Order: sequence, then structure tokens, then C-alpha cells
Amino acid sequence: MEQHIKQSGHLKAPGNWINDPNGFIYYKGKYHLFYQYFPYAPVWGTMHWGHAVSDDLVNWEHRGIALFPTKYGDMSGCFSGSAVEDEGKMVLFYTGVHYHETDPENIHLSAHDHFDSCQMMISSEDGIHFDNFNGKQVVIPPITDKKIGDKTHTRDPKVWKGKNGWYMVLGSQNEEGRGKLLFYQSRDLKNWSFVNDVSKGAGWGWMWECPDYFEAEGGQVLIFSPMRFLKDGKWEENQSICMAVDFKEDSCEMAMPDTYQYLDYGLDLYAPQSSVDETGKRVLIAWLRMPKAVEEEGISPWRGMFCLPRVVEVKDGHIYFRVHPNVKKQYARPLTDVKEAGKEGYRIRLCLEDGGSVNVGGYQVFRRGNRICTDRTAVFCAGEGYRTIFETPNVQEGNQLDIYVDDHMVEVYINDGEYVISNAVYGLTKEFQAVRGSNVEIFGKISQPFGSP
Ligand code: FRU
Repeated sequence: MEQHIKQSGHLKAPGNWINDPNGFIYYKGKYHLFYQYFPYAPVWGTMHWGHAVSDDLVNWEHRGIALFPTKYGDMSGCFSGSAVEDEGKMVLFYTGVHYHETDPENIHLSAHDHFDSCQMMISSEDGIHFDNFNGKQVVIPPITDKKIGDKTHTRDPKVWKGKNGWYMVLGSQNEEGRGKLLFYQSRDLKNWSFVNDVSKGAGWGWMWECPDYFEAEGGQVLIFSPMRFLKDGKWEENQSICMAVDFKEDSCEMAMPDTYQYLDYGLDLYAPQSSVDETGKRVLIAWLRMPKAVEEEGISPWRGMFCLPRVVEVKDGHIYFRVHPNVKKQYARPLTDVKEAGKEGYRIRLCLEDGGSVNVGGYQVFRRGNRICTDRTAVFCAGEGYRTIFETPNVQEGNQLDIYVDDHMVEVYINDGEYVISNAVYGLTKEFQAVRGSNVEIFGKISQPFGSP
């Protein structure tokens, strides 16, 4: 990978393939975001951890590969995980996978789901250098007790510091083939004991990926990504959902309601990860699934990007995802036309009346009663399994939209994050028109500290 690529606004693959955000942390005055990375082609394969660093969550610099397979446990990939700071060190936890059989036509894939997963740890003195050869250790070997979890499908450790020491939540599968969460506890980050597991009935997916539990302003939140998830009698794809929960640290018991929200109503975002920003706010980033690679002149094909950082808050049981104030602050240069915006995109703010619509470069946003809908048919390479039309549930508050537009992603924040619709797009034009919209404002990015990306 070319190192030190600089990007502004949305963080994108530095070439080839990225998926989940990993190891998101504010550490020694900088934001670090690692990510699932396949460095050889714009498709999923043997996982590495790529690394990006930012001062402000808006301007990013790619710093190359942080983790790569070196051990028996992670021989076939370093899957998703998280970061904590302990005694000045950055400590990363991730899932090491070992394939017992590979696809003879593509050795980057396992065959017949015949692989083991263990949980691994590596630490760094500065958050930049990781000793992949001498610094790794297995902290939870592949699970052998089926009553606890599955030896193949247990992954994505999210670690946090609680009142009684360190906690870890893992996504797993139970004996009936349903998704579940496993909670572990540790005093020293190295020795972990299983404390409790939590599951739901049928219809909640066969494996729960990338769990994240945290306390946000206003309440406790659980986010996870069930694979094949039953909703209204139909099988959905893998989707990220969130809910307000009641978690007890002493026993690791978690009361989970039967109601949930989608993380994002564009249904393209997946596998989010949260952290705490420098002011103590809970901030989250998620992966935008893209159906095909972007091929632009002068740069390698790339596939996968991240949404803008969002502050998570709970109010009256509802989970809000508000665009991070640093982003708002930087998308504040008034423009008279979207054609004046630079490569780092622009933001449109407006109120939309019932029956009103906005055309953003071919991407349509419209209001039907109290629902906000989007239609990307004109700016998408619709293939099988991809939707083009989306809608929120009924919104409770106002009709204010904040739309962040990038060449390959549009994010529509409704009523300061009451709901968000984010979609991957291809071939947006530089046009903009609002019908029955009022107070329309357009903003570009104020500065480009890194020069043109
Ligand atoms: C979610 C996921 C994780 C896994 C990683 C592998 O997208 O499947 O569960 O750790 O991606 O890249």
C-alpha cells in the first residue's frame, strides 16, 4: 500500500478492499482507526489491519498495514477487534482465524467453513509500531465447550474498562444455530474468564457479528450485526441493529428488548464500532458496503469506505446518530451552488415539506407524510440483492435534513440524527434541485490542511 495517503471527509480504502472499522481509539492526542484490509485486490480475502490516523476525525492519513498474519492462530487472517489504552500502551484485541481447508481456486477463502477462531492481543508503545512476530498472544483459544460458543463462529472482541475491571463481548453462535453474545471479564487483559451469554429466540440471525456495548449520553446501548435476520416474515441480509439495553456489570446479565432500530435506514452500513472522543462523547463509525470497486484514473481500484463519525445519544429510549460536531464545523463554507464544492464533497441543509423532494445529483430524497425516503435508482449499478429505495419509520420531530454528499456516498441526517439514511452511489452529477423545500443552505469544506486528496 502507498503509505501516508491523505483523505478528507469520508475515509476510503487506500486501494483494494476494506471492510469493518477496528481498534477505534483516541490515544495520545490522536484518533486511530484500523480497518479490515485485503491489500491485493478489491475483494474480500486474507484479512490484515490497515491503519489511519487523524487529529480531528475529518482529515485522515493512512499509515500502512498494522497487523498481518504471522501465527498459527491468525495464519488465515486477523479479523475484527478493538483497542484500549492501558498504562500508556495501546492494546489491540482481534480474532485470529486458522483455515483447515482453503478453496483451491482462491486460497484467501476457507472451504466448507472448516476453520478455528481464537481471540488474540497485541500491544504497542506508541500506537504506530506493532511487533507482529513477537508481540502477539492468544488470550482465548478456540472454544471447545459447545454450551459456551462455537469454535468457528466466535469473533470480534470489543473490550472496555468497567467498574470491576476489563470486559469483553464477543459475537457467537449457540448449539441451535442462533446468534448469541459472550461476556468475559479480566483483571489484567491477559487472563479472561467467561461470565455469561445472552441470546434471543428464533428469527434473530444465525451469528451475531461485531457486538458493541457502551454507555452513551442518556443510556446503555447495544449494537450488533445479525447475519440473516428475520423481519416481517422475510429474510433480510446481514444488518446492523441497535437497542437500548440494561446491562449489569457484576453478573454480565443483559436485558434485551424485542424492539430495535436499524443503525442506518440506508441498509448499506455494517459492522460499526464506537469509541470515546476527546471530549468524552460516544462516537461511532461504520463500513459502507459497496457493490463494486471504484476505478478512477491515476489511483488503484478501491472498494469500501466509512460513514462520517456520528455521536450516539439516547433520548426517551430512542437512539440518535448525530453527525460529529467536528464535521459540522468543517463543512461550514457557504456556497451558492454545489458546482463550487471541491473533491471532499458538500453539505446541504434544508427543511422539507410533506410531498417535497430534493434531487442531489440524481439521488432523490423525498418526504411522504412523516417518513423520509431515498431513491438511488439513477445513480447505482443495481445488481441482485441490492435495494435502491429506502425509508425511515415515522419521524417524531420536525423536518430538518442535513445531507452530506460525497462522490460515492450520500448521508441524509434527519432531525439531527433521529434517523439517518446512508447510501453508496456511483456517477452522481453536480446538480441540485429542491421542490417544496425551504431554508436551503449549501456548504463546502472550510479548509484542506492536507492539500487536495
Ligand atoms: C463483519 C465481519 C466480522 C469479521 C470480519 C472479517 O463484516 O464478517 O465478523 O471479523 O468481517 O473481515
